[in-house]
Amino acid sequence: MTSATIAAVPADLAAIRRQFPALERSFRGRPVAYFDGPGGTQVPRGVVTAMSDYLYHHNANTHWVYPTSVETDVILGGARAALADLLGADADEIAFGANMTTLTFHLARGLGRRWGPGDEIVVTELDHHANIAPWQAVARDRGVTLRTVPLDTATGTLRWSDLEAALGPKTRLLAIGAASNALGTITDVTRAAALAHKAGALCFVDAVHFAAHARIDVRAIGCDFLACSSYKFYGPHVGILYGQRDRVAELDVPRLEPAPDTPPERLETGTLNHEGIAGAHAAVDFLASLGRGNTRKERLDSAAVWLHGHGQALVEHLWTGLGRIPGVTLYGPPPSAPRTPTVSFAMEGVRSEAVAMRLAEAGLFVSNGDFYATTVVQRLGLAEVGLVRVGCACYTTPEEVSRLIATVETVAAGRR
Ligand SMILES: Cc1ncc(COP(=O)(O)O)c(C=O)c1O
Repeated sequence: MTSATIAAVPADLAAIRRQFPALERSFRGRPVAYFDGPGGTQVPRGVVTAMSDYLYHHNANTHWVYPTSVETDVILGGARAALADLLGADADEIAFGANMTTLTFHLARGLGRRWGPGDEIVVTELDHHANIAPWQAVARDRGVTLRTVPLDTATGTLRWSDLEAALGPKTRLLAIGAASNALGTITDVTRAAALAHKAGALCFVDAVHFAAHARIDVRAIGCDFLACSSYKFYGPHVGILYGQRDRVAELDVPRLEPAPDTPPERLETGTLNHEGIAGAHAAVDFLASLGRGNTRKERLDSAAVWLHGHGQALVEHLWTGLGRIPGVTLYGPPPSAPRTPTVSFAMEGVRSEAVAMRLAEAGLFVSNGDFYATTVVQRLGLAEVGLVRVGCACYTTPEEVSRLIATVETVAAGRR
């Protein structure tokens, strides 16, 4: 989704890191290295400033005539435009909500009102349960059949033949993730959307894990809906839903009668998190600041090229370093395959929680367990012990990765 012709600008990692006060933290005398980005990235100063500026100087409800209300309308409009640039959409196709899960439940309920027995929804085993449970609930409530595309546990990917077999004339929607938050696997959602449309179905894309690492273009993907969450790309806790204008206009979503009935507001319920939305806008501007160009879209294109190169170097370092440690098993695709810089592993004879605790003691913050990608972890046979997940972000340094590898080596040596 990134044009090869766009040049990456060598970013100044030290200058990027200076924008994140969290990176100044130490724990038990060791500088903290945050490898928990897939669960939520750290936040740069500009994002917090945008949020406090909104609350201090513009705080109001929408659509009234006095200045702070007018300013609030302008701020929300500006944020829709920024998120539209991030996703390759138009501003009136961007809806905000509490988080991806809430938006997806809401959308699923609306879509499901038109479905019933004989209809089918397709989900995948590779997905976070936020992209499974809402569809499962609709299937249960409406008597719709749920089909699940299996995970190929050997490669950590989905097989195209399985996806094609799951889709058919009864399919109403394919719900699929652009990147796995557990294994880092990137799925070609452009191809998946084309297959869904060929079967006459809608395509919903979960881009929550993907958005921090690669460029998104909803028009190029051809999906009908796509969701992400700004706290995964350096912003606050706000969910974002792209809905193709015509699809949103025809949706039968639950809504209050006096609320606006035009896209995108008809997807939103009640007063929004204005300060969070101001922060989500600033997060897009932060991402754009990692690239160069005349427009924000061009800067986002260029930033994505840098992010890819940065992530690729880190993931190769991680994969080789962790892969050499006796007792450590890596899961997911190798660095040569499309993937994000999120690497998960298990250590023979040691529960993931114990590994994460040892790493935390050394100032290395990693997540462990199943990360709500419950089926992935079950299918890998790791439901009991869980995975240790190491996620690299724009602020991750090669030295931090080396420190992590060395500490995992020490933990693994101690288990014998
Ligand atoms: C891939 C993926 N999808 C969906 C979600 C749920 O997002 P939210 O917390 O915004 O509901 C997450 C959160 O971890 C995720 O990683």
